Amino acid sequence: MIIAIDGPAGAGKSTIAKKLSKQMGYMYLDTGAIYRTITLDLCNRHIDVENKELLAESLSEIDMEYTTDHIFLNGKIVDDEIRTESISQKTSHYSSKSEIRVFAVEMQRNISLNEDIVLEGRDIGTVVFPNADYKFYLTASEEERGKRRYKDMIDKGMDTTLEEIVDSIKKRDFNDKNREIAPLSKADDAIEIDTTSMTIDEVVEKMVNCIKGGV
Ligand code: C5P
Repeated sequence: MIIAIDGPAGAGKSTIAKKLSKQMGYMYLDTGAIYRTITLDLCNRHIDVENKELLAESLSEIDMEYTTDHIFLNGKIVDDEIRTESISQKTSHYSSKSEIRVFAVEMQRNISLNEDIVLEGRDIGTVVFPNADYKFYLTASEEERGKRRYKDMIDKGMDTTLEEIVDSIKKRDFNDKNREIAPLSKADDAIEIDTTSMTIDEVVEKMVNCIKGGV
């Protein structure tokens, strides 16, 4: 069973996907974390991503491992390191590169093999698993998404402002929606949920009802 969740930054995808996967007893895959970790590694190694040959070779050397609880790069947990504003912006740029997308999509499909799984990202229902059993597209107003992301960053002890976060979300959404390969878009058969004035539990309940009701 494959459940695909897509949507723009800060729509609540991670929290909701995590909760839904727990409730269903399924595995959870945060595909953004994969793109972020690839970006962190390429930045750490100062790889020129415009050099296609070098990029392909560098991707084959990445030592990354995804588990339900953590993401590891070269054996080290990088859960927090991949969530800085600087990595968010760079990831949005790097993830437009076809070599990086091919590498990341293959990894996502391998992890999902023989699993009941909830995946969240930007292109799950359109590209990674176009035949997913259930597809959801989560949205929320820009202001609400900014507030949520800002709270997350402050809770993590990061130094930022609401203005900076809203600006960053806008930039990322623009890049993600307008890139040539696998742009963020709602799959025709995805169920759209506007989470602006819903609690996390309400959204999860709505999804569970769709799944159990076989919608
Ligand atoms: O979901 P998250 O905000 O962590 O994703 C970080 C970035 O990774 C996104 O802004 C997007 O550029 C990229 N991404 C993607 N495809 C996915 C998941 C994330 O291009 N399936």
